[in-house]
Amino acid sequence: MAHSSERLDHLLSRLGYCSRSEVRDLLREGRVSVDGMPLRKAATKVDPATVQIDEEPLDHPYPLYVLYHKPLGKVCAHDDPRAIYQDFPPRWRYRRPSFSSVGRLDRETSGVLLLTDDGDWLHRWTSPRYAIPRRYRVTLQNPLQGHEAGILASGTLLLEGEHSPCKVAEMIPLDTTELQLTLHEGRYHEVRRMFAALDNLVLSLHREAFGPFTLDDLAPGQWRELSEIERQMES
Ligand code: URA
Repeated sequence: MAHSSERLDHLLSRLGYCSRSEVRDLLREGRVSVDGMPLRKAATKVDPATVQIDEEPLDHPYPLYVLYHKPLGKVCAHDDPRAIYQDFPPRWRYRRPSFSSVGRLDRETSGVLLLTDDGDWLHRWTSPRYAIPRRYRVTLQNPLQGHEAGILASGTLLLEGEHSPCKVAEMIPLDTTELQLTLHEGRYHEVRRMFAALDNLVLSLHREAFGPFTLDDLAPGQWRELSEIERQMES
């Protein structure tokens, strides 16, 4: 695959190796090379795929696309000791554009979460235009009363403090207090607020699917990179 070339100092700083000014130290120490030849100038244009530091190829010189099993108790904010980002290589915290989750899950919600540093790809999966289906497994405190699926499917449920009703959502009861719910939008604490509006309380919430992505055998806290085919998938 042909890749465009990029200034070395820009490349290493955007991949989180060091600041642009620190690149000169690496060069002086002879630690950066292309085809075994040490580089000397920070402004040299390089093909990211050919650069080595300490004889190792660069850590993901192209955008990252990751499927993660978000565990309970972790938060999607960047600057928090309980951040999901603790589960990824520390260098990725310094990448630019930043490595970020595609939407968010609450601290007490587990399940499928995508992460990337490709802004266009992130936008494609979060844009309301595509109405990506998000499937949740929900446990309620109180038994279902029978009217919930109809209200959720009507597209009329108004959440506290909001002016526009929730989009149509599909609910499948699994037991008296268990259900599967598919939403086509992602509002703040949406599932919990939907059931609060229906006089119930969500006790546990797990996202089983986001568009075509499911966890399969990924354990909580584990992640894997998406394949090229998965990256190209549509909802
Ligand atoms: N709805 C919620 O209430 N929380 C989530 O994390 C996702 C959807």
